[in-house]
Amino acid sequence: MLGTCLGKLKLENPLILASGIRGNTAALLIRAAKEGAGAATSKSCSLTPRTGHANPTMAGTEGVFINAIGLSNPGVQEEILEIRRAVKEAKIPIIASIYAKEVEEFAEVARLISEAKPHMLEVDISCPNVHREGAMFSSYKEDAAKVCAAVAEATKIPFSAKLSPDVPNIGQIAHVCVTSGAGCITAINTAGGMYIDARARKAVLSNWFGGISGPAIKPIALKAVHSIRKAVGEEVPIIGTGGVSNGIDAAEMLMAGATAVGIGTAIAARKEDAPFEAIASELKAFMKEEGYTKISQLKLEE
Ligand SMILES: Cc1cc2nc3c(=O)[nH]c(=O)nc-3n(C[C@H](O)[C@H](O)[C@H](O)COP(=O)(O)O)c2cc1C
Repeated sequence: MLGTCLGKLKLENPLILASGIRGNTAALLIRAAKEGAGAATSKSCSLTPRTGHANPTMAGTEGVFINAIGLSNPGVQEEILEIRRAVKEAKIPIIASIYAKEVEEFAEVARLISEAKPHMLEVDISCPNVHREGAMFSSYKEDAAKVCAAVAEATKIPFSAKLSPDVPNIGQIAHVCVTSGAGCITAINTAGGMYIDARARKAVLSNWFGGISGPAIKPIALKAVHSIRKAVGEEVPIIGTGGVSNGIDAAEMLMAGATAVGIGTAIAARKEDAPFEAIASELKAFMKEEGYTKISQLKLEE
């Protein structure tokens, strides 16, 4: 009932651990599998280790979370070992996320991480909090296309381009990513934002700006996924991500046009031992109630 495919990759259920949340090590990716995830994405890794930003890097109120971790990671050489172990032991598809500062570096990290044979790569061209004022590769279609073409040249493993909602036309960006070699689109990354402590007269995060995640961004993510589906056609898989907290949210994301559903913040927030399993049960219950027998039937009426 819940099976889906990302290209040739088969998933038993459409719920995928999003990058950056409990995905830093093989043990955490394996844990996601045990908690019922259909696939799991690792934290984005770069060519060399990154320490990330100074604390505070996270803040949150109910339904709205902000982070500016600054992509702290041990670098691709360490990550190869983690991904290799996760691929061997997790028994679900493992998606290795990569990040770089330059186009050529994306190709190099893609080439290196491919040695660990992840089932898929995710190319993070949309982190909003690495540079306080800097643009992302996914801000402009020319830059997004260059990264995707370079990664396509560097690896035979299929990859997804991860996009930011902070652009005027996300469908157009998705379209050039696909024509430049991306076999899948992941949308959305966090939306750029800022917290201020009025009494302290200070920005809350050390980086000032961060990325908003959790329920607050669900409407932004639904619109993005719908726009991308219109732009790329029916065949290109989309991992719809952003603000999904339960089975009904997942159904909405699938109706917007997603092929699978990324979940991040809610996995840390939900109280069950197996949050993916719980969300999958809620999705199944909704489908039964509404008379659906497979997730591809979840479509919007015009
Ligand atoms: C603490 C934290 C760290 C994240 N790190 C990454 C990352 O390394 N790479 C990436 O592509 N996305 C990263 N993200 C974005 C998530 O993968 C996801 O796109 C976003 O949080 C929206 O989904 P959600 O509302 O379900 O959390 C991070 C999000 C959070 C909250």
